[in-house]
Amino acid sequence: MFESASRGEVKDTVSSGNGGSELHKLDPSDIVLKTESLTLGFGGSTVLEGVSLEFPRGSITSLIGPSGSGKTTFLRSLNRMNDKIRGYHRRGEVLLDSASIWDSSVNLLQLRRRVGMLFQRPNPFPMSIRENVLVGVKAHGLAKRNDFDEITETLLKEVGLWKAVSDRLNGSPFSLSGGQQQLLCLARALAVRPEVLLLDEPTSALDPFSIELVENLIAKLAPQVTFVVVTHNLAQAKRLSHSTAFFFQGKLAEHGQTNQIFTAPSQLDTQRYVSGSIG
Ligand SMILES: Nc1ncnc2c1ncn2[C@@H]1O[C@H](COP(=O)(O)OP(=O)(O)OP(=O)(O)O)[C@@H](O)[C@H]1O
Ligand SMILES: [Mg+2]
Repeated sequence: MFESASRGEVKDTVSSGNGGSELHKLDPSDIVLKTESLTLGFGGSTVLEGVSLEFPRGSITSLIGPSGSGKTTFLRSLNRMNDKIRGYHRRGEVLLDSASIWDSSVNLLQLRRRVGMLFQRPNPFPMSIRENVLVGVKAHGLAKRNDFDEITETLLKEVGLWKAVSDRLNGSPFSLSGGQQQLLCLARALAVRPEVLLLDEPTSALDPFSIELVENLIAKLAPQVTFVVVTHNLAQAKRLSHSTAFFFQGKLAEHGQTNQIFTAPSQLDTQRYVSGSIG
């Protein structure tokens, strides 16, 4: 039987950040991913300077900040998606389970299985809906052929797409709406059982019902999967995350428990941003 959420237990020792009682608790000393003085840029320009952030295992972190503040660049650096971009440069480290993601022993395919990504714009592969769900499962040999149908159904149900696509699994994903394509990409990303999932404005193209479904899914999976979510939707950050990081003018301006960032930020810029007076 395929289980998308079978990655071990999270210790319940410390209360979660946002004061939202439905979020599970975290062990803040169990850090799955961390950046150390990460400085990023393209060509002659620096996008972000000296970002140090820790992601406890099973946490949900929101990255917020104005357009152009470097959220996507930061997110893409966490699984080396920028490495081949012309002019990209970086200093500092990203550590996954304490090991550098740029270590020569790292297999890139394996890294991206462990640290998956959902892009802002859906990018289904040019293959059937069913094959989109299964592509990573097959590439990594995660299941037997006999289980493929069940895996497809389980994942499509999990992301709320099953009813819409069950009669056209062999059809093209490009016949789906933009929001449905995004849900399909989420199913594909979850299918390889990532330890960390990077989501870049994952719900910006979704209707309110699908947004609720995706948020509930993230909350359900989070004890086993660590989520880093870029969002412009401040209400979503408040609802969803343990902690929130505010990027502003090339820096990580502030990072703290979500409740604190929204109710008692320590920086004036954070206060102005979360209150809606800048952005
Ligand atoms: N491939 C690239 N080449 C050159 N500059 C880039 C590249 N990608 C991003 N940048 C620059 O890096 C800066 C940060 O961009 P980024 O996309 O990370 O911002 P963002 O916070 O995600 O914005 P948004 O909220 O609009 O998505 C911008 O000034 C952008 O022009
Ligand atoms: Mg972006």
